[in-house]
Amino acid sequence: MQIISTITALRHRLRDEEPVVFVPTMGNLHEGHLDLVRVAREHGRCVVVSIFVNPLQFGVNEDFSKYPRTLEQDCKLLEQSGVDVVFAPSEQDLYAQPQQFMVDPPAIANELCGAFRPGHFRGVATVVLKLFNIVQPQMAVFGKKDFQQLHIVRQMVAQLNLPIEVIGGETVRAADGLALSSRNQYLNPTERTEAAFLCRTLANMGKAMRGQAALNQAKLNSPRDFSSLEQEARDALSARGWKVEYIAIRCSSTLLPLTAGDKDVVILAAVWLGKTRLIDNLETNLQGGLS
Ligand code: PAF
Repeated sequence: MQIISTITALRHRLRDEEPVVFVPTMGNLHEGHLDLVRVAREHGRCVVVSIFVNPLQFGVNEDFSKYPRTLEQDCKLLEQSGVDVVFAPSEQDLYAQPQQFMVDPPAIANELCGAFRPGHFRGVATVVLKLFNIVQPQMAVFGKKDFQQLHIVRQMVAQLNLPIEVIGGETVRAADGLALSSRNQYLNPTERTEAAFLCRTLANMGKAMRGQAALNQAKLNSPRDFSSLEQEARDALSARGWKVEYIAIRCSSTLLPLTAGDKDVVILAAVWLGKTRLIDNLETNLQGGLS
């Protein structure tokens, strides 16, 4: 495995490689990232992982400065996982000039996480496009845990005609169901135990939705929208001291609110437990679709 820190050296190293499969990360790697690497290895000969904490996607009061940076340990894990190249550029190299050209994502980037993190997806889309231009992969793997990010990257690739296949990697969870995230380490032991309540809440919502949709199909007069389920989940979390940014039930292919006929649904959430912001989501299928 080679660790490369400049754009010139990376281009030189990759000039005869194809197919290149790319896994962009911000480092502080956990099993979730390593699973994306495993997916990448299944798809291509040369696996490139980038490690770069991108200042453009953090708001002024967010955790950019305290975001854990563990390059040495990350490289050991990547070496054991069979990665070919780690690209770990400096901020000076990636942003050699002030970044004035930015990718302006569509309106969906201002909803859900985007409503609470203004400019976040602009920063993500811009750095991902830059990394795509540098690495020039044939495929790229992004985790489904960041469901809205994956959606926006897919839209960018489609609408800007980038010759890249985007692959979504499944969310890896701890034994109690908590989605793995670098930010989980901000949780104290009590919060860490409580944190699993989020995925249990989403699972209960999924079950209730499927039940209501089935009643609806059978014309048993069940409610046609799920806003009361969203509200119940918000109330349940708030009652235990969580601060809810959003819990929303959306169409999984557009991320828009559900309309008649939608079958593939995703429940998305962003919540604060103490000083830690957690996101999670659950995809589910409503047999026969919403009527
Ligand atoms: O998901 C992440 O870790 C980041 O948003 C990404 C895609 C590496 C861009 O900085």
